Amino acid sequence: MAANAQDTLQRGSAALMNTFPPQNMVLDHGKGCKLYDTDGREYLDFAAGIAVVALGHANPILLNALKEQAEKVTMSVASHVTQAKVEAAEILTKGRVCDKTFFTNSGTEAMEGALKLARAWAHEHRGHDVKDFIAFRNSFHGRSYGAISITEKSLSQPQFGPYLPGCHFAQFNDLDSVRKLVTDKTCAIIVEPVQGEGGITPADPEFLKGLRALCDKQKIILIFDEIQCGMGRTGHFFCI
Ligand SMILES: Cc1ncc(COP(=O)(O)O)c(C=O)c1O
Repeated sequence: MAANAQDTLQRGSAALMNTFPPQNMVLDHGKGCKLYDTDGREYLDFAAGIAVVALGHANPILLNALKEQAEKVTMSVASHVTQAKVEAAEILTKGRVCDKTFFTNSGTEAMEGALKLARAWAHEHRGHDVKDFIAFRNSFHGRSYGAISITEKSLSQPQFGPYLPGCHFAQFNDLDSVRKLVTDKTCAIIVEPVQGEGGITPADPEFLKGLRALCDKQKIILIFDEIQCGMGRTGHFFCI
């Protein structure tokens, strides 16, 4: 390894939090599914940036779109309508499974929005104490407090607690285990149609249909977290 890469790694170990052990190389650039380090070594990014670089590194169409937009309006808040925002929302909604879009900066924030929306709906339509969530073992929904509270790992990480109260974990692909956890306080059930971090485990279609029927019957909100399995990664826009 060249001296300047070693130097960058050393400076990194002093300046960066050691949340994950660093790889022994310094990434320089990427193109498509390939990455290159500062010593010119080539790597295959077979995980597509942990499932978020579906279009490849340095995709020219994406780069152009980002540049064009940043040159026009670099930031717009929820109360600002722009043509690009409406067009992006329409791509997501037209003929798809959802009819409205709420843009966020991350998957975690999308989950926070979904949890809040579910509670707001339950507050208005079912009662002020209908707050509980049912999520699944091996789930992953993000790193903020709401999202981590419905992520099973929180159960083995008491050092970050207290988490949101009223979060329960059923067995993935096991409808009976969900039924056993449902109470009159259950506000929403949150499921990944394909569990990502949990090990790329697809939900059985009958299981998802069962969840839909259970939620319809009990007036429970059903949240599909497709942060990892949506956006075309299964060959369809959304996973289902
Ligand atoms: C299913 C799922 N939900 C939510 C998230 C959180 O998304 P982000 O990392 O963009 O906050 C992830 C991230 O991997 C995810 O896989």
